[in-house]
Amino acid sequence: MSILIKNGTIVTATDQYIGDVFVEGEKITTIGSALTMPADRVIDATGKYVLPGGIDVHTHIDMPFGGTTSADDFESGTIAAAFGGTTTIVDFAIQYRGETLHHAFDTWSKKAEGKAAIDYGFHMIITELSDQVEEEMDAMVRQGVSSFKLFMAYPGVFMLDDASIFRAMLRTGKNGGTICMHAENGGVIDVLVKKALAEGKTAPKYHALTRPARAEGEAAHRAIALAEIADVPVYIVHLSSTEALEQVVEARDRGLPAFAETCPQYLFLSEDNYDEPDFGGAKYVMSPPLRARGTQERLWRGLAFNDLQAIATDHCPFCMKEKHLGDGDFSKIPNGAPGVETRMSLVYDGGVRTGRISMNRFVELTSTSPAKIFGMFPKKGTIAPGSDADIVIFDPEKTTTLSAKTHHMKVDYNPYEGRQVTGVTETVLSRGKVIIDAGKFTGRAGAGSFLKRAARS
Ligand code: URP
Ligand code: ZN
Ligand code: ZN
Repeated sequence: MSILIKNGTIVTATDQYIGDVFVEGEKITTIGSALTMPADRVIDATGKYVLPGGIDVHTHIDMPFGGTTSADDFESGTIAAAFGGTTTIVDFAIQYRGETLHHAFDTWSKKAEGKAAIDYGFHMIITELSDQVEEEMDAMVRQGVSSFKLFMAYPGVFMLDDASIFRAMLRTGKNGGTICMHAENGGVIDVLVKKALAEGKTAPKYHALTRPARAEGEAAHRAIALAEIADVPVYIVHLSSTEALEQVVEARDRGLPAFAETCPQYLFLSEDNYDEPDFGGAKYVMSPPLRARGTQERLWRGLAFNDLQAIATDHCPFCMKEKHLGDGDFSKIPNGAPGVETRMSLVYDGGVRTGRISMNRFVELTSTSPAKIFGMFPKKGTIAPGSDADIVIFDPEKTTTLSAKTHHMKVDYNPYEGRQVTGVTETVLSRGKVIIDAGKFTGRAGAGSFLKRAARS
C-alpha cells in the first residue's frame, strides 16, 4: 500500500514548509515538492497541517484504582486517542506488592494485545523493591520498558520510601532507563486528609485543599535531589504547580537532566471547577489537583521556554457512578480524568492560536520531545524518510465543540464540556494505514504493536 499526501503544510519540531509526503508500507520514504510517483491513494492536504502523530506518554488504560477500574480499555482508549490525533501512547504497567515486574509486563501486554489500535509502549510502576526486582529492572530496559514510575504519594498503595526510591534511581542510572516521578509528599497529604475528614470536610473540593502546591514543590525538590545524587535523569509527571516548576527550572539551570510534563487539565481548568454543584467537583478529582487559575500562564511560559518538555494527558477516566464511590468522603473518589482524545485540539487552540507557543513548539511538545526523552525517536515523533508513517492531517480552521455526547472515550463526562476549539484532526495514518478517515475510524483493534523503546546510549 502506498499513499501520497500532497500540498500539505508539513510541520516538524524545526521546520514548516509546503510539500508532499510519500508513504510506502509502514514508512515515510520520500518528502519533496510536486512528487508524481503513482500511489494507491492520493490525499489532498491543501490548507492543512501534516504533522507527526501525537505521542501521549502518560495514560492509564484499563487500570485498577480505588476499588474500580479506569473506563477505557485498550480498544476504546486507543481509538479515542486516534480520533484526537495521537498515534502512540505509553501506558503504565503496575507491579503490585508481592508481584514481579515480569508479571506486570505480562498482565499489561494481555490487556493491550488484540485491542490496541495504535502503537503502545509501557512504563513500569514499581511499588516494592527487592534485589530481585532490581535485577528485573535491567531486564525491563532490555525488553523495551526503559522508564520506571515511582510514587512519592498514595501511602499504602503506590508510595515508595526514600530509600527504595534512591535504590531504584541508582539502578536506573546504571541500566540506561529514566525515572518518572509522581511528586507529591504523600505523608503530609495523608495527615491533611485525615484532619479534613475528622472535621467533617468531605466534599470533592477538599481533595484539592488537602494537596497543597507546596507538597508538590517539596517532592519535586526531593526527587531532583535524589536523582542528582544517583546520577539518573528524572522526569516529573503531571506537573501542576509553580512550586514544582521552580524546582525543575533551578535543576535545569544547573545543567541537570531534569525534565517535566504538564497536562491540558492544568492549562485549561482550575481549582474553581471543584465548586461545580451536585458532586460535579468529583470530575476533577485527580492528583495533583487543579490549581489556582494564575498558575496556567506560568505553565504556558514554562512550555514556551523549555522549562517543561512535554504535554501528556494522564488519561485516567472514571464514570460518574465510580466517582460516587466518594459520596461523603472525598478520599474515596477514584483519582483521574479523561483527556487522551482532546489534547491536540486543546493545545493547538489554547497554545498556538493564542500565540503562546509556535507551531513547531506544538509539534515538539506533543510528539518530538516525548519521543526523544523516552527512546522512540526518530522512529516516532517526526516527519522524515525512514520514520514510521504515523501522520496526522490537521485542519487548523475547523471548529468543534468538546462534549461527552460526541467523544469516543468510554466515559460519561468531558471535563471541557461545551468548550469550542478550533483545530481538528481530520485524517490519521498509523504505520502507513489510514485509521481515521473523514471522521470515521477505519483502523482495526489489535493493529497496534508493542513499541520497544531504547535505553539511553
Ligand atoms: O489522579 C491521577 N493522576 N490518577 C492517575 C494516577 C496517577 O497518579 O498518575
Ligand atoms: Zn501520578
Ligand atoms: Zn498518571
